[in-house]
Order: sequence, then structure tokens, then C-alpha cells
Amino acid sequence: MYRAPRGTSDILPREQAYWRYIEQKVVNACQLYGYERIDAPAFEDTKLFSRSVGEDTDIVEKQMYTFEDRGGNKITLRPEGTAPVCRAYLEHGLHNLPQPVKLYYIASIFRYERPQAGRYRQHYQFGFEAIGDDDPALDAEVIDMAWQFFQSLNLRHLSLQLNSIGCKKCRPGYLAILKDYYASHTRDLCSDCKTRLKRNPLRLLDCKKPQCQQIANSAPRSIDYLCPQCDEHFNRVKRYLELLDLPFAVNHRLVRGLDYYTRTVFEIQPEVEGAQTTLGGGGRYDDLIEELGGKPTPALGFAAGIERIILNLKKQNVPIPPLPRPQVFIAHIGDKARDEAIKLAAALRKNGIGVIEAIGNKSLKAQLRQANTLGAHHTVIIGEQEVKTGTVILRDMTTAQQRTIPIVQLQEELR
Ligand code: HAM
Repeated sequence: MYRAPRGTSDILPREQAYWRYIEQKVVNACQLYGYERIDAPAFEDTKLFSRSVGEDTDIVEKQMYTFEDRGGNKITLRPEGTAPVCRAYLEHGLHNLPQPVKLYYIASIFRYERPQAGRYRQHYQFGFEAIGDDDPALDAEVIDMAWQFFQSLNLRHLSLQLNSIGCKKCRPGYLAILKDYYASHTRDLCSDCKTRLKRNPLRLLDCKKPQCQQIANSAPRSIDYLCPQCDEHFNRVKRYLELLDLPFAVNHRLVRGLDYYTRTVFEIQPEVEGAQTTLGGGGRYDDLIEELGGKPTPALGFAAGIERIILNLKKQNVPIPPLPRPQVFIAHIGDKARDEAIKLAAALRKNGIGVIEAIGNKSLKAQLRQANTLGAHHTVIIGEQEVKTGTVILRDMTTAQQRTIPIVQLQEELR
């Protein structure tokens, strides 16, 4: 028997109501804040991701699905959604539009991870990007949009974590101080952190191992080493968030797992602590477009994992509206009645009434049972007698009451 590849899953019909619910809330939020949809390909030139996400990140080092296609091109299944959007922004000259350009996507994402609850090898993200302005008011707007999106889902007990990791001017100075601090703790670090110290010191701060967390808690904080411009930017972001009444907490250990970030970074997490509970995260990436060959173009964005949102909706028992489905079932007894049923079902559907028609030669009892299982509100029953008299029996499935009505009246009755 074949099974879905490890770390992937089928989204069965019984799960679909969650997906449609979230998509609807995404579309609503994007309309409210003026974001337009963009869909990029599922794979890109490998270099796009290694350059933007960063050679020394877990994603590029260990998690990308990279292969050579039959034409000898090096291809990678997208491990995130921001770089493809920036590539499209440059490729299609979107810098000629009024800035910032605001785009959103819902896309499958591929990362070769160790699968566990909330961590998969293929997952879906909803993300949005605002490209072309460095106004801290835009940071506040993006953070507000992310926060309000979760509120609109009726998810509760979330926390909003905020940090600033500076820019290419001030970060090197901070990293030197951070490395100095860690140099005196090398013996107590986990083996991953020993590598991080050499290759990606910022990531030392978000190691999940308890012994490293203790060291990280007392580490120098990036916000204490910001240049005056970054400091001013961060202060204004915080002030706008206060104006918006957003309950943020500054977390000096929040650094994010992708290298393109500058200045503001933020995450939304459920209040219960855990290793892979972050619902969504984002931040500024003011240098990314330039690194990809464009003019200096400040930008920021956010993305959230849909499977993790669903896990949390279930944990919090948030009621999800059911998907619409046909509420009328047509049962029939005998060949003539079946002919009538086929015509009737087509006529009702043409008029916008969803119908499920009994298929096969089941007994009336079995057909009614099927109607019940499908959740039909009404069953239309046609037998020899009804065919002869141009009538149908209309059965209310909740009360089990039945009455005979002329077939020409049926549509009106059902409405
Ligand atoms: P990220 O934090 O790597 O950011 O991913 C965003 C979200 O995707 C995570 O918070 C999590 O909910 C979900 N996620 C990530 N990996 C997995 C996985 N293996 N299984 C299930 N869910 C997962 C980014 O990707 C950035 N592009 C976000 C961004 C947009 N920054 C600026 N703009």
C-alpha cells in the first residue's frame, strides 16, 4: 500500500471547513488592509533561496528540497514565500507602481524537517508582504493586521513578541559583543550552539535547549546596541503599537530563523510554551530586494502556518461554520420513478437548489438512511403512484413528517 510521504498529509473533506474558514478570514483581512493576491511558482532557482534566506540557516543547510531538473537547472521547492514575492516584484517592475506594494499569498511550503505535531515537510502558509517603504507606521500596520487576523479567527490566549535586530550598520557591532559574551560560555553550550557561535551567532539566542536558554537570557540585547536611526525606528513602532492598543512584549531573544531580517522582527505565539508552537512570524527585510539585484527597497511582511492555526482552533474548541452542502435528497422506487428523479434533480440544480440523487437500486429504507447520513433537510420521494399523478412526497427529515404535493410546486416549497 502506498502512503502519503512522511511529513505530508491529505486534507480530507472533513477537514476542509477549517481550511475554508481560515482562507475566508485571510481574504477579509487582506481586503481590509488593501493587499492583493499573488501566486508564485512552487519552485524557483535554488540561488534565490540560498541568497535570501541565508547559507548558514537551518532552512538552506538542511531543509531544502533541491534537485537538478532534466535540463540541468538547479531547482528548489519553495521553503518560504517572501523571496519568490520579491523576485516577482523585481521581475515585473512592480517598483513602478505606487509604493508600498501590498501582496499576499496562500501557498504550500516545503521543508525537510523531522515531522511532529505542527511540523511537516509540506505545510501551507498564508503570508503578506508590504514592499517599498520604511515608515515605522507600516511596521505597526503589518503587525496590527497579523494580530487582527488571529482575533478574527476567534483564537485567544496569544502573545505578540517584538524585537529589533538592527541594520547592516549597527548589527556587526552587536554581533561582536554577543560573540564575546558567548565566548566565555562555550563549554556549557550544546553542540549546535557551538557551531552557531562560529557561523550565525544571532541564532544562539533562540536555542531551545534549557542550558543554552539560561545563557541566552543574560546575553547582551540587540536593542541596547541599535544605531540612532534603528533606535528611533523601533521607538516609533512601539509607540504606534501602543496607539493601536496591541499587547506586545519586547523579547530580546526573538531573532527569527531567516537571515534577511533587519530592524523589526515579531512573532505571534500561543501563551502555552512549546518548541514548535509559533503561529506566525515576520519582520522587516530592508536589504533583500537590493541583494536580489534591485534598487534599495525597504519592505516587511508576515507569514503564518495554516496547519498550526488549525491545531490551535481545535485545542481551543473554536466553532467552525460548516461548509454548504445539498440539503435535498431524492429517493425513488421503480424504473419510471428513477427517470422522473433524474429529470427532477437536473431541474432543481439548474435553479440553484443543491440535490443529491439516490444512485443504484436500494430499498426506500436504505435511501432514507443515506439521506440522514448526508444531513439532508428534506427528502423528495417518488414512486409509481407519484409518477402517475404528477406529485412527489416531501419528507421533512427532522420531524419525519411527509406530505404529497404536486411536482410543479416542489421548487417553491423547497425554497
Ligand atoms: P517562518 O517563521 O519560517 O517565516 O514561517 C512562518 C510560519 O510557518 C511559522 O510561524 C509556522 O507557523 C509555519 N511553519 C514553518 N515551518 C513549518 C513546518 N515545517 N510545518 C508547519 N508549519 C510551519 C517565514 O517563512 C517568512 N517567510 C515569514 C515572513 C514573511 N517574513 C517576512 N515576510
